[in-house]
Amino acid sequence: MPSMASRYSQRPSGPDDDKRRSFKDGRRALLEQRRSLPIASVAEKLVEHVKKSDTLVVIGETGSGKTTQLPQFLHSAGFCKGGMMIGITQPRRVAAITVATRVAEEMGTEVGKEVGYSIRFEDVTSPVTQLKYMTDGMLLREALLDPLLSKYSVIVIDEAHERTIHTDVLFGLLKGVQERRKCAGFSHIHDNKLNSIGQNTAAEKQVAVVSNGHSLFRKSTGPLKLVVMSATLDTKGFCDYFNGATAVYVQGRQFPVQIFYTYTAEADYLEAALLTTFQIHMEESLGDILVFLTGQEEIESMERLLRERATHLPETALKLLVVPIYAALPSEHQMRVFQPAPVGARKVILATNIAEASLTIPGIQYVIDPGLVKARAYNPHTGVESLAIVPVSKAQAQQRSGRAGREAPGKCFRLYTEDSFAKLDDTTVPEIKRCNLANVVLQLKALGIDDVLGFDFMDKPCRTTIVKSLEHLYTLGALNDEGKLSDPLGFRMSRFPLEPLYAKAMLVSSEFGCSKEMLAAIAMLSVESLFYTPRDKIKEANNAKKRFASQDGDHITFINVLRIYSLEVDEGQRGGDVDSSTLDRRASKKTEKVIRNWCTANYINGRSLRRAIDIRKQIQGHMESMGLPIISCGEDMLVFRRCLAASFFLNAARRQLDGTYRALSSRQTVSIHPSSVLHGKKPECVVFNELVRTNRSYIRSITQIDSLWLPELAPQYYAALDLANPTQRSLQS
Ligand code: CDP
Ligand code: MG
Repeated sequence: MPSMASRYSQRPSGPDDDKRRSFKDGRRALLEQRRSLPIASVAEKLVEHVKKSDTLVVIGETGSGKTTQLPQFLHSAGFCKGGMMIGITQPRRVAAITVATRVAEEMGTEVGKEVGYSIRFEDVTSPVTQLKYMTDGMLLREALLDPLLSKYSVIVIDEAHERTIHTDVLFGLLKGVQERRKCAGFSHIHDNKLNSIGQNTAAEKQVAVVSNGHSLFRKSTGPLKLVVMSATLDTKGFCDYFNGATAVYVQGRQFPVQIFYTYTAEADYLEAALLTTFQIHMEESLGDILVFLTGQEEIESMERLLRERATHLPETALKLLVVPIYAALPSEHQMRVFQPAPVGARKVILATNIAEASLTIPGIQYVIDPGLVKARAYNPHTGVESLAIVPVSKAQAQQRSGRAGREAPGKCFRLYTEDSFAKLDDTTVPEIKRCNLANVVLQLKALGIDDVLGFDFMDKPCRTTIVKSLEHLYTLGALNDEGKLSDPLGFRMSRFPLEPLYAKAMLVSSEFGCSKEMLAAIAMLSVESLFYTPRDKIKEANNAKKRFASQDGDHITFINVLRIYSLEVDEGQRGGDVDSSTLDRRASKKTEKVIRNWCTANYINGRSLRRAIDIRKQIQGHMESMGLPIISCGEDMLVFRRCLAASFFLNAARRQLDGTYRALSSRQTVSIHPSSVLHGKKPECVVFNELVRTNRSYIRSITQIDSLWLPELAPQYYAALDLANPTQRSLQS
């Protein structure tokens, strides 16, 4: 077949030419797409504003090009000169990864080089990185090591409208950093002026230690520019908070979206979403479908149901290509949502809230919105934090339906009634007002900000919540009697990328001699849905689980999964591969297959298992860097269970006469979740790690303990033996 190129070139074209040409074509297409984005027309204006003011607020419709383009404009304008970086925060891991990958592609480089990302448990950057996409939580962690964020010339706080807890803390923190970087004399960390404004913080002292007493801040790095980007119009709040910062609006394109409501409330929204998907697929013209679900488990079960039922579609029908996207999905799979559906197929994207604003997925014409979101909820009076599925706000529902009208007029199917919509809250309450703040308070303390109540929050969290968090940290021993970070416990706890309770558990376990087991348990607790139970194979899945089950509870069951996996897969692989140098791609593919087969046979979710193994490695790194030993208690699980009691005494529950349980610290009535190996076993006393609220309160990830261990191992919390009335020592205020 004659090549198209022969029309333009006399030279016979080889395969390399084709590659080069398609590469060039691809680059050109990318460039054209970039130029057509709404933000392109205001590029110069944006750069000018950043040059002349400290803080800029950018408001623009999702998809207008804020996240991918603005950092590149600043990069071209020279903001990365002299080895400085531009940091862009994202509330979500997935967004950080996919956006960095996209921007790397646009800049003609590989992710990890000039453009990189950093998320908890994964750092894909290098010394040449200039644009760094990261979760807001990671930037907070960086501030612990480098309180002036001296490597950054600009920090872009993206998706500010999401108002995650970390974003809100960053607001206050960055305002302070800006002030301090304005002082010309921050070249010495022992500078008096800096001391007087609280700059010589505990964290800085640590830096001084790390750098052998040499200040890391010898070189003046100039002012810190701040860009706050948001997809909603709540400009005033941001501008007021940032001392009257200028706002620039990026005009987006939005086509009309037709909204449909159900006539009556849907009892089973998953089933309703499933039916609606097929209805759209059979009746509506081409265009991809985006379904908003609440979490990984839901997405996975929907994915299976869709695949099963799609096999019954008539032969002539379009194919249905199902692509999931959620935080725990391995990055290589996350990019699949951006690939267009092949000819003859329609793409159905099953997404968590992530697709609401942080990700712009091209090609979507239909949105299915059950109107729910998984959110953290906190009761400051009981001190209980739980994950609950709650209705979205009106603003969220609108944002979701907007996803259907980015490229052409679209349709949004809300799986609830118009009446229910009218009753939704207008906007979402910032996370900082509905979360346990223990982690944030610990981070602030580690940054040397002792007066947490006086911290410059954009929206102040309620006082009770802060006091409760201080109490919590005090009970865990992270704070001393003066309310300062304790040494070494509090310092060490703040170093772990874990909730304070888990960080403490790691430290306790090294004293108990079971840190290897705790490491495994906490890694497993950090992933969602380890066991995989298809609806049509419940019996088989439950049987498979029995192989790992420990009668003592879920923590040991988790450990067993990792142990048996290691024995059967890791060791097997090692034995099988005679020469490690032959471990080429074929071999690693083989390994992949062995792992996958093992997971399938054992009804284990391979994605979750892999992530857990990765997390275990990372936490182990933190332990080792603190010089803490990784020791195993071997077969002596009594030691481990006592360690769990000593670590999670705040989450203990006791059986009541009617068979339900009473959480000892909150006095709440709870039940054992059906997914627990202890379900139906009714042990007298347990510790748990998770509280899930559906129609009732369930505890999950549970291990049975002896109630007498509580006063023995946590005497500061449980007055001797009087377990019916646990007294709580409060922090003196
Ligand atoms: O941040 P904002 O919502 O304003 O837009 P963006 O994320 O910068 O996206 C701009 C454009 O890049 C959109 O048209 C997306 O379709 C495209 N994009 C993409 O194709 N692949 C990605 N991974 C990210 C963005
Ligand atoms: Mg964006």
